[in-house]
Amino acid sequence: MSKFEIQNLGKASIKSPLQLSTVRGDNIFNFIKEDHKVVYNLSLEAYKSCLDKGQDPVCLEKAGPRQNVFFDSKTTKAAIVTCGGLCPGINNVIRGIVMALHYFYDVKRILGVPYGYEGLNPKMGYGFQELTPDKVKDIHQFGGTILGSSRGGQDVGVMVDTLVHQKIDILFAIGGDGTLKGADAIGEEIQKRGLDISVVGIPKTIDNDIDIIDKSFGFETSFDIASSILRDAHNEAAGAYNGISIIKLMGRDSGFIAACASLSMPVVNFVLVPEMNFKLYGDTGFLAMLKKRLEDKKHAVIVVAEGAGQHLFNKDKVRTDASGNIQHDDIGTFLKNEISAYFKDVMPTTIKYIDPSYIVRSAAANSGDSVFCSGLAYHAVHGAMSGKTRFVVGRVNNKYVYLPIKAVTSKRKKIDLESEFWFSVLQSTGQPLSM
Ligand code: F6P
Repeated sequence: MSKFEIQNLGKASIKSPLQLSTVRGDNIFNFIKEDHKVVYNLSLEAYKSCLDKGQDPVCLEKAGPRQNVFFDSKTTKAAIVTCGGLCPGINNVIRGIVMALHYFYDVKRILGVPYGYEGLNPKMGYGFQELTPDKVKDIHQFGGTILGSSRGGQDVGVMVDTLVHQKIDILFAIGGDGTLKGADAIGEEIQKRGLDISVVGIPKTIDNDIDIIDKSFGFETSFDIASSILRDAHNEAAGAYNGISIIKLMGRDSGFIAACASLSMPVVNFVLVPEMNFKLYGDTGFLAMLKKRLEDKKHAVIVVAEGAGQHLFNKDKVRTDASGNIQHDDIGTFLKNEISAYFKDVMPTTIKYIDPSYIVRSAAANSGDSVFCSGLAYHAVHGAMSGKTRFVVGRVNNKYVYLPIKAVTSKRKKIDLESEFWFSVLQSTGQPLSM
């Protein structure tokens, strides 16, 4: 079995209720066949190397509606759970799943699981919410999640017992790395028990740190919000002699929000991300670069991702949150204090420290993310109805595909400091290549 092969609960032998086509030229969308694949590595080099070895290139399963489905619409019951930190677009995804199940597949019984995986533990006593098109029709206008969320896992056996007890056939889990690993563990337990329950993950994180997929939903809205904060922070910096604005943005282990916000608002002079081990002191250190910038231009804008510069702290022990994520030391205030101490006897400066914190992730999705969220939701429903399980839906090389959960959770996506992307950040900021 290849790394990218998707598991199926069994043979899809029920005719899909969708009135789609199987032929080109009739102006009706065609069902996706199981052998419709998307090439993973688009480089000619990789393609040639496959040809040389007489192998097919590594391919991913194309997402979309299948001609035959596994679940019978009349008896199918689905549940949706949202876990982890908030992210713009969660409500859009919930709405899209409910609408697709209800209108495309005629699945009328849909439960909302309150407060993340906790809601699958009956001991919490939260109950469930019935989700109908009428209940979800307006929720895309709001940030957050109508279901509530929580961090951390629950006993897998207990959660599967709940699915069985509630007669759930499909579980949609919307969440980041921890949630997806949890969903896979649920899928594994279901398999062990020989049950026909499909588990589907929809990757959600503003940090954009889910491996393989082009981007996670909500990420673009987050850096969009951050971008206007950078514009205003620049006004603060430029408004004072040797003015310095430091803006701390979310991004625990990957600096994509900091990098993309800075690219989209090119007023930033330094971007510090978790992927780089910058030095503070010395001739080639960050503070010397900052001094030079002030001497040249009399103001500076610094964007720092919350997970950056952790090597600068003396850590006695690693703290983690309920999802097992490392809780970082506060690089923002640390940097502010270090800059202030460094310039104290060197030159006068005015430092403005700005921490937008949760504001970049609690808003409603922007238009681009709204389109993306609907696409993810519809494709998640198509995949689940056809009996696929333990998979996520995502876009790779700009195409919607299904990927095994394990393929995207084995490591976190990080900025490649040798990539064209990071080079474009350096070109935009003008910070030294060596930093
Ligand atoms: O979901 C990702 C994220 O927003 C990170 O950028 C941030 O470090 C973390 O979640 C904060 O999460 P919380 O404070 O909600 O546990």
